[in-house]
Amino acid sequence: MKKNIKALILSGGKGTRLKPLTTTIPKQLLPVANKPILSYVIDQIAEAGISDVGMIIAPETGNLIKEFAGDGSKWGVKITYIMQADPLGLAHAVSTAGEFLGTSPFLMFLGDNLIQGGVKKFVDQFRSDDSDSLILLKSVPDPRLFGVAEIDRNGALVKLVEKPKKPKSDLAIVGVYLFNKHIHSAIKSLKPSWRGELEITDAIQKMIESNRQVGSYILQGWWLDTGKKDDMLEANRVVLDDLLKREIQGKIDSKSRVAGRVEIRKGTEIINSRVRGPVSISEGCRIVNSFIGPFTSIGARSVVEDSSIEHSVILEGCHIKRIERLEDSIIGRACKVIYDESSFRNKKLFLGDDAIVEL
Ligand code: G1P
Repeated sequence: MKKNIKALILSGGKGTRLKPLTTTIPKQLLPVANKPILSYVIDQIAEAGISDVGMIIAPETGNLIKEFAGDGSKWGVKITYIMQADPLGLAHAVSTAGEFLGTSPFLMFLGDNLIQGGVKKFVDQFRSDDSDSLILLKSVPDPRLFGVAEIDRNGALVKLVEKPKKPKSDLAIVGVYLFNKHIHSAIKSLKPSWRGELEITDAIQKMIESNRQVGSYILQGWWLDTGKKDDMLEANRVVLDDLLKREIQGKIDSKSRVAGRVEIRKGTEIINSRVRGPVSISEGCRIVNSFIGPFTSIGARSVVEDSSIEHSVILEGCHIKRIERLEDSIIGRACKVIYDESSFRNKKLFLGDDAIVEL
């Protein structure tokens, strides 16, 4: 029986695959159904009965993470911040947190990952068994993008490889892990991988080689890894579909129709428009003469006029005007997307670095 399980959340990293959004917002704070992904992560940790949480942060984005999560009291947990000066890998993050972790068993959670149904079940299992580690696996279409596990006919782990060119299975390693103190000695013997990082995958492989007991569990429910644009849209879709409840706090005028699971937060007005859920519209928005279709999230204080939007994530303070069928789009904070009727087929763009426009 393991006592005093701690949690270690990894909220560093550069988020290069989500530029330009991550130029100003750390990827762990990007919204999924109008709530930062990190907030779901801390919810799931608190729900598993863990209250002592270490948060790995990077120098570039650490302050924003601190500003958002504070001392953790919003979730009933206590957060200790740990600075990882350079992004030298997940195993390096664990050794950076050495003092915080001590000899405690711990749950390591990548701050941009989320799994359906939370982690309580796995934490409880790890608490009560005598394994040294428990990892979660999920069958994915392209395992080359992840750490990959090879298992034998009885389901026992044979080998783990980080981003293999020729994967031996389709089982990706999910960014939620449970370890006891033996992970630390495995990390001490690691050498940097081809990408110059100390890989947690290699450390777990070392544990297997030294006959430590490493258990695995194949997830059937959804797993979100919000590292790229399409992943973010998918995460928004899945979370709206699975977790959103109908709650109308804003005003809907008599000419509007709001159908299905729709969240409309305080101070938002829906005027002569149709909203078809699942949709989340944050505080202080104005939706005028528009259609907001399924799987859309609109951030606080945005204005949508004479437009139709579906399967998209609009961040706060945007203005969308006279745009028909905006789909599969992610729009950063305070952007203006406006169709100018007076211009003849010309397009005027004022875009920041790394923007993508598909017309
Ligand atoms: C990391 C791990 C990888 C794991 C993935 C899950 O990859 O190294 O084994 O499958 O997280 O999100 P990275 O995000 O560093 O590319």
